[in-house]
Amino acid sequence: MDALGWTKTRWPWQQCLLGLLLQLFLALCFFSYLRVSQDTPLWSARSGADAAEALDAAPKGSSGTVSCQGAPCPTPPGSSPASTVVNVSAKTELVAWVVSNWREDSARVRYYHLLKAHVQVDVYGRSHKPLPEKAMAQQLSRYKFYLAFENSLHPDYITEKLWRNALEAWAVPVVLGPSRSDYEQFLPPDAFIHVHDFQSTEELGRYLQALDKDHARYLSYFRWRETLRPRLFSWALMFCKACRQLQ
Ligand SMILES: *[C@@H]1O[C@H](CO)[C@@H](O)[C@H](O)[C@H]1NC(C)=O
Repeated sequence: MDALGWTKTRWPWQQCLLGLLLQLFLALCFFSYLRVSQDTPLWSARSGADAAEALDAAPKGSSGTVSCQGAPCPTPPGSSPASTVVNVSAKTELVAWVVSNWREDSARVRYYHLLKAHVQVDVYGRSHKPLPEKAMAQQLSRYKFYLAFENSLHPDYITEKLWRNALEAWAVPVVLGPSRSDYEQFLPPDAFIHVHDFQSTEELGRYLQALDKDHARYLSYFRWRETLRPRLFSWALMFCKACRQLQ
């Protein structure tokens, strides 16, 4: 058999393998998509039991209750760091923001400049106060509120890492990004503050100051933890990230 004949017989076989791999990849994408669509909504207002993905139902008598605010609370074995209980009454700082990608012309930085005229905001990250990854949860847990401002304002674009940082530190997320209803697919409506709930940055600033002084009202932002618990990891969200990278 000459060299040409050999290549002729070899190529179809390789194409077959390539085709097979492509089909496998497409099947994987399809199943990921199915998983993602099944997971939505990740949280439902009707029943805590629907909150399967981003939020797990807290086991009865677990540490998720607000009344149980101290370190001695029992933590279920094998639970994620998200179920760490922070003494909400011991918080001493008001608003924190961790930002690595600082762009003066971005919507979130412009909003921050307006907001900081009405409420003190501590900014961490590159070119601001340093905050090592290891110390992050601990440091943020001293704050009552956390600015979870999206880098890009796009419908359906939510970086869950932002508000997960906040939930892990038991800081109430103040979100800027897509609409409130988009966030409510992932978070209970009373678990976060949306900037669109307010006419102006001044109004939001005043609201945060008022919550700072009204502890009972501030605690109402933790009531959902009596029945739900944030979950840090979800395959659906991982696949979402992968898809976003590929786009
Ligand atoms: C939580 O913090 C408050 C205020 O500092 C304190 O009075 C209370 O004893 C703390 N609770 C626990 C369980 O540590």
